[in-house]
Amino acid sequence: MLNNKIGVFDSGVGGLTVWQQIVKLLPNQPILYFADSKNCPYGSKSKQQVKDLSERIVRFFVQQGCGLITIACNTITAAAVDYFRKKYPQILFVGMEPATKPAASQTKTGRIGILATQNTFQGEKFVSTRNKYAKDIQVEIQIGYGLVEIVEEGKADSEEAYNLLKKYIDPMLAHQVDQIVLGCTHYPFLLKNLKRIIGSQATIIEPSLAVAKRVKILLEENSLVQFLSNQEPYVFYTSGSVSTLRTFLKSYSALDFQTQYYPN
Ligand code: DGL
Repeated sequence: MLNNKIGVFDSGVGGLTVWQQIVKLLPNQPILYFADSKNCPYGSKSKQQVKDLSERIVRFFVQQGCGLITIACNTITAAAVDYFRKKYPQILFVGMEPATKPAASQTKTGRIGILATQNTFQGEKFVSTRNKYAKDIQVEIQIGYGLVEIVEEGKADSEEAYNLLKKYIDPMLAHQVDQIVLGCTHYPFLLKNLKRIIGSQATIIEPSLAVAKRVKILLEENSLVQFLSNQEPYVFYTSGSVSTLRTFLKSYSALDFQTQYYPN
């Protein structure tokens, strides 16, 4: 019998973009969030390191009784979701990958841009989706060096972020891309600066709502949706700074932060 508690995690605060959508769709569901901000970024670590770090969090969620775990991180999904599904068959896993398919189907210019981490681009999932759905499309890929760090430092709206994004996005726009995919859950925090740069030249695609919908469907299929109002506060764990996490969640009130926690 599966438990209806959900675990959501990321290498840091990025997965909160997914967490927010899950909370909106499933307002009564008990949800734990884990940000491994101490070890962030994962994007350039070896696949084995990403697996080892993220498995500690998965084990922790399993101990806490989570029946469904959302990997709110493209990088971790690319490195480990297949491994987790095999190793923990009793748990439902939802992962994510850059939204190449919708971007390819919506483009009018036949050109799309994707911003993601190095590990996501090197993952088998990205390569196979691209070959399957974007074979005849020109795909401009760009590794977002430094962006995750800027978001973690709470500087998403800074001029520093603007300048870095401009360096990555301008060449895409020069190639007439009309769809820009945010292939890392940290990047929606950069939306203000992204909109300043992109304006109406391209549509920005980010998949957090689609991931939340997938979570809801899986819970429904397994009769795990909690309908009665849940009085428990949302719980957050971080291996890094609790004040950083708080800053990202200012607008939510019923929250419970566990400081400097790290699972064994
Ligand atoms: N938020 C993660 C993702 O979606 C990546 C961040 C990192 O590099 O650690 O890919």
